Amino acid sequence: MVALLVLCCASVVAGAAIQQRDPVPAGYVAAPYYPAPHGGWTADWSESYRKASALVSNMTLAEKTNLTAGTGIFMGRCVGNSGSALRVGIPQLCLQDGPLGVRNTDHNTAFPAGITAGATWDKDQLYRRGVAIGEEFRGKGINVHLGPSVGPLGRKPRGGRNWEGFGSDPVLQAFGGLLSIEGIQSTGVIATLKHLIANEQEQYRMYNIIKPGISSNVDDRTLHELYLWPFAEGVRSGVGSIMIGYNAVNGSACSQNSYLMNGILKDELGFQGFVMSDWLAQISGVASALAGLDMSMPGDRHDVPLVFGTSYWMYEYTRSVLNGSIPVDRLNDATTRILAAYFKMGQDQDYPRPNFDANTQDAVGPLYPAALFSPEGVVNEFVDVQADHAVIAREVARDAITLLKNEDDLLPLTSSASLKIFGTDAEKNPDGINSCADQGCNKGTLGMGWGSGSARYPYLNSPIDGLKDRSANYQFFNTDSFPSNSNPSPNDTAIVFVTADSGENYITVEGNPGDRTSSGLNLWHNGDRLIRDVAAKYANVVVVVHTVGPILMEEWHDLPSVKAVLFAHLPGQEAGDSLMQVLFGDVSPSGHLPYTLPKSEDDYPDSVGLRGYQIGQPQDTFTEGLYIDYKHFNKANITPRYAFGHGLSYTTFSFSDATIVAVTPLTATPPTRPAKGETPTYSTAIPPASEAYWPENFDRIWRYLYSFLEKDEADAAAEIGSSTAEYPYPEGYSNVQKPGPPAGGAQGGNPALFETAFDVTVTVTNTGSRAGKAVAQLYVQFPSESTVDTPIIQLRDFEKTSTLEAGASQTLKLRVTRKDLSIWDVVAQNWVIPVVDGDYGIWVGGASDNLHLRCGTATSSCAGDQTSPV
Ligand SMILES: *[C@@H]1O[C@H](CO)[C@@H](O)[C@H](O)[C@H]1NC(C)=O
Ligand SMILES: *[C@@H]1O[C@H](CO)[C@@H](O)[C@H](O)[C@H]1NC(C)=O
Ligand SMILES: *[C@@H]1O[C@H](CO)[C@@H](O)[C@H](O)[C@H]1NC(C)=O
Ligand SMILES: *[C@@H]1O[C@H](CO)[C@@H](O)[C@H](O)[C@H]1NC(C)=O
Ligand SMILES: *[C@@H]1O[C@H](CO)[C@@H](O)[C@H](O)[C@H]1NC(C)=O
Repeated sequence: MVALLVLCCASVVAGAAIQQRDPVPAGYVAAPYYPAPHGGWTADWSESYRKASALVSNMTLAEKTNLTAGTGIFMGRCVGNSGSALRVGIPQLCLQDGPLGVRNTDHNTAFPAGITAGATWDKDQLYRRGVAIGEEFRGKGINVHLGPSVGPLGRKPRGGRNWEGFGSDPVLQAFGGLLSIEGIQSTGVIATLKHLIANEQEQYRMYNIIKPGISSNVDDRTLHELYLWPFAEGVRSGVGSIMIGYNAVNGSACSQNSYLMNGILKDELGFQGFVMSDWLAQISGVASALAGLDMSMPGDRHDVPLVFGTSYWMYEYTRSVLNGSIPVDRLNDATTRILAAYFKMGQDQDYPRPNFDANTQDAVGPLYPAALFSPEGVVNEFVDVQADHAVIAREVARDAITLLKNEDDLLPLTSSASLKIFGTDAEKNPDGINSCADQGCNKGTLGMGWGSGSARYPYLNSPIDGLKDRSANYQFFNTDSFPSNSNPSPNDTAIVFVTADSGENYITVEGNPGDRTSSGLNLWHNGDRLIRDVAAKYANVVVVVHTVGPILMEEWHDLPSVKAVLFAHLPGQEAGDSLMQVLFGDVSPSGHLPYTLPKSEDDYPDSVGLRGYQIGQPQDTFTEGLYIDYKHFNKANITPRYAFGHGLSYTTFSFSDATIVAVTPLTATPPTRPAKGETPTYSTAIPPASEAYWPENFDRIWRYLYSFLEKDEADAAAEIGSSTAEYPYPEGYSNVQKPGPPAGGAQGGNPALFETAFDVTVTVTNTGSRAGKAVAQLYVQFPSESTVDTPIIQLRDFEKTSTLEAGASQTLKLRVTRKDLSIWDVVAQNWVIPVVDGDYGIWVGGASDNLHLRCGTATSSCAGDQTSPV
């Protein structure tokens, strides 16, 4: 999602240069997959499809095309506004960013970012955060929430938007996404899982008339086992909408990639909702419709100056149906999918209308800000949607805090500790907490990254606010250079606040165009130097890091006085009190790293570096395959600074008495998929041209995108449609619905994939002297007889305990599914268990490098005190 503040000159009209694809590296192909599978064949959606199809069968051509696109950028209150079909009772749909709260409004909560939520490893909190977010979107009258984000997956440590998602592992990312979706959709809001797919860097992501967007060249197995995994889980949880990325896969833009949308998403994953483009990611009309795109946002063409108000769809979609280029069958399916999601969430029952305006903070303003002469009206009603959501926001921010190091038990602090606080990150931006549009600056406490995934703060409880509220004994030096007047005393504890930021490509902050090109993985604002200088003068130093992702800590990590290091990630509005609760020991820290921390950037494979400028289409080939983050470190035998999943507490835990029980007997390939159910049927005849005519005396708004055509244009198109002229359909085009691939069968894929193969339990005991929560992480190690190259260990499940008092225990239940033990067989095009009766190692412990309990699937027994597999 992007916001273009300047309407004109974003691009210039020119030839169809981008239609020409550059060659991708040998072996990567974007195969055709047609036709777009009809939605409605799974039982869980049949009632919604029944309602939707009853309506669609009564809608005119212009009404249907009106629902499939936005009315133009800045042509309504929300960041995306579809057309309406008021005659049949369907209002314009309001689509709005973003994953951590309602963007560009007021009286909202600025929740902790996705990466912070991921660091809690707490399924219940992930769900409740989703519910609270959903309630706020509903309260503002938003139909479609543009989140959660599970792509980027975090392949590139410098990638700009990794922080919007939940961590650099498909399973952690999947739980973050699906629990958010379940929470959000429980409130009646349609969630949007994004960005499909392999959208791993910000730079060069978009198509323009000079340059095609970056091509992520991904092999089939890597796609299935890494990048698609969280999408499969999100579809399985019933997500209503999917957003397509700007980038290409294997050379073909995601927004018109038929293999991706028709094949993988709709047929294999059985997605029943609708696919929308990212903002201006659509680059063709007919081709994108045939390839499976259902909704164009914000409606405009990307290659014509936005000031003109032109569209690939709307009136052109209407024309394409009349002239026979897009079968009306495709439009019926797209419209039915959109309305089915609307009915599935119950939006036909008293759903609120938008009461805010993403374009202005004024009460009264233009209704269509991008129109030259727009009528004015009340646009902001300042509805307070915060309820008690600060509570869950604070809980997540607190339980995400990840204690990496705590020598001599420096933490927790005593309430009377003499504190010296350093770093501008400890206090709010003096220019104002929302002084930078879309948080496009790094000044003051870093609570979120920048871009469309940001929200305005209603307030920001900074660390200094937190210290004040506790009447702590502190002195604050609001500087990023070591001050000469801090009077170090041996009794002082120094706390240094440092940051690393990133965001979306349309804003460049301190030389970083979204991705961390110029900062690299280093701390910003002299952070390394500040820590070293403080450590030289103080014997007890705590480092608090607010960061979007991995950073390098080698310059100071091992200094003897740097005794404690905490990652507070991106805490949102509740930065201060959440941190104080941990620093002063009201609670023990219980966050765990959602990514690996390296010692050097050279620890990573070259292929996960940012791709720079390339003539023609930038090519980004995923040669590392499955080996990203910890999977790479383990394979290459590189000891990281801190391993994926690491996180300390003020207490200690033991993992013991594990059990494993076989539940579903395994076979090499899953049982045959269920057949598709019935889908709605409609007439396939081209509708009469009169369904497209402008109504008489229609009051047109300048630059607004409408689905009507002038009578002569509609008639001319219909004449083509009734002739025998053949549209040059893409290679491999077909009109015949397919039964679907063997790996499909329900939302998310063949339902047998998600059957529990083994139930695992583990007893977690608090063996220390303070209360705390522990996370049990379950990793799978493939049997040694397996000849398929597979990462040494892969996370497959996790559970967090409730607060355990000293000495207390809790038994946690985990599970391993058939899919968890399978690999994607590119020849069979199915999930296959390489050694059915092989002994899989099911490792359970507190971090990826701290696994001492092993259960074996062949022996159905578990043993403690084992040597950690990595
Ligand atoms: C990309 O190319 C690889 C190698 O030919 C192929 O296996 C894979 O399915 C392709 N992916 C997509 C999305 O087209
Ligand atoms: C919709 O239903 C009404 C009432 O049954 C009917 O008069 C009208 O022709 C229908 N319109 C379409 C486009 O099917
Ligand atoms: C399309 O939506 C717009 C905006 O709500 C509305 O003005 C127009 O009448 C709609 N067109 C049809 C065919 O209903
Ligand atoms: C039908 O209209 C669409 C949209 O303007 C156009 O791209 C396509 O080429 C037309 N098809 C024919 C056969 O004229
Ligand atoms: C440091 O703490 C000790 C013991 O609590 C106290 O006696 C001493 O006065 C303190 N020194 C300073 C400089 O505050």
